[in-house]
Amino acid sequence: MRFSLARESWFLVACIGAIVNLNAAAASVLEVDLVFPRNETYAPTTWFPVVFAFQNAERARLLNPHISYTIRNWDNMLGNDGASFSHDLRLANWSSHDPYFVCNYFHDVFAKEGRWWLTWHVTWESCNEVAFSAGLSRDMIRNSSSWSVLFTTDNSAPEIDLVAVTNNKTCPAELGVAINVTDRTMAVPFGVDWSGGDTCAVVASSTPTPTANPSQVKVDSVVVASMSASLAATLCRGIDAPANCTNDDESVAQQLVVPGVSVVGISCVLAAFGAFIFF
Ligand SMILES: *[C@@H]1O[C@H](CO)[C@@H](O)[C@H](O)[C@H]1NC(C)=O
Ligand SMILES: *[C@@H]1O[C@H](CO)[C@@H](O)[C@H](O)[C@H]1NC(C)=O
Ligand SMILES: *[C@@H]1O[C@H](CO)[C@@H](O)[C@H](O)[C@H]1NC(C)=O
Ligand SMILES: *[C@@H]1O[C@H](CO)[C@@H](O)[C@H](O)[C@H]1NC(C)=O
Ligand SMILES: *[C@@H]1O[C@H](CO)[C@@H](O)[C@H](O)[C@H]1NC(C)=O
Ligand SMILES: *[C@@H]1O[C@H](CO)[C@@H](O)[C@H](O)[C@H]1NC(C)=O
Repeated sequence: MRFSLARESWFLVACIGAIVNLNAAAASVLEVDLVFPRNETYAPTTWFPVVFAFQNAERARLLNPHISYTIRNWDNMLGNDGASFSHDLRLANWSSHDPYFVCNYFHDVFAKEGRWWLTWHVTWESCNEVAFSAGLSRDMIRNSSSWSVLFTTDNSAPEIDLVAVTNNKTCPAELGVAINVTDRTMAVPFGVDWSGGDTCAVVASSTPTPTANPSQVKVDSVVVASMSASLAATLCRGIDAPANCTNDDESVAQQLVVPGVSVVGISCVLAAFGAFIFF
């Protein structure tokens, strides 16, 4: 199987939500959740969002987290009808935005009816405390979590409404993974193959591991407006900018060049461009 997405077929926007600690009681627990899509039916759309969230995002800083996913046409699994993406989060600013939203818009792929199977993998790495202390190992502890959802696009279904999807609804715990990141950090020993920096964090090995609670992530209208503004600004900055771009869009685009600048009360960062190909 081979997918080849053209450079202009997607844009990656990392959006940052309200500064709310949703889960103060378990502040050590980082959670990575798929926020959208769910096991639901939506109207086809030209720009289809895929949204993940990090709760207690600050705890992600030393774990070198990585998200990748593939979306296949359930009724044509061997065709090259679908999409895939991988989020490199090494430049994410985890420090002041909670939950930290990571979003990506796919162009045209989901503008038609179908059943789609989204499979994602979250990977992270942590200090190998015992082995590093004893000088025994040069490997990080690598861990990962995978899950999938089946969603449907259908012309008779309602338009995508991220606020409605994430508010007053519960979703299965499997949409998230909870990672108990302790306060203990270590210097990464010389020779360890790791792209995460000089310091690593220790992940608690105690059982039971905490349960994920993805239903806690709410997308509000401010986050949606910010995502839309980012998308519009990205389009307006690109080659083939839409004719209806306004000065406002350009000014949003200008602001987005500087990470952390507030756009409609929220920070949105344009994280990356590029084509993604896999076999
Ligand atoms: C939800 O998932 C089940 C299988 O897990 C599938 O049969 C059903 O069609 C899905 N619903 C939608 C709306 O995609
Ligand atoms: C969620 O439910 C509460 C109470 O019923 C209501 O006040 C609120 O407007 C609802 N939120 C959304 C986004 O529908
Ligand atoms: C990997 O992470 C999961 C979820 O936090 C946890 O249950 C499991 O024990 C971890 N595995 C290792 C080898 O650390
Ligand atoms: C996280 O791990 C620590 C041990 O390092 C443990 O005391 C704490 O109860 C764990 N938290 C949760 C929510 O499991
Ligand atoms: C420009 O037009 C497109 C297509 O009609 C629309 O989706 C988009 O929101 C418009 N952009 C602005 C900035 O008005
Ligand atoms: C991260 O975000 C915070 C809050 O928006 C900001 O103060 C800080 O300068 C940012 N850090 C970097 C490295 O951009």
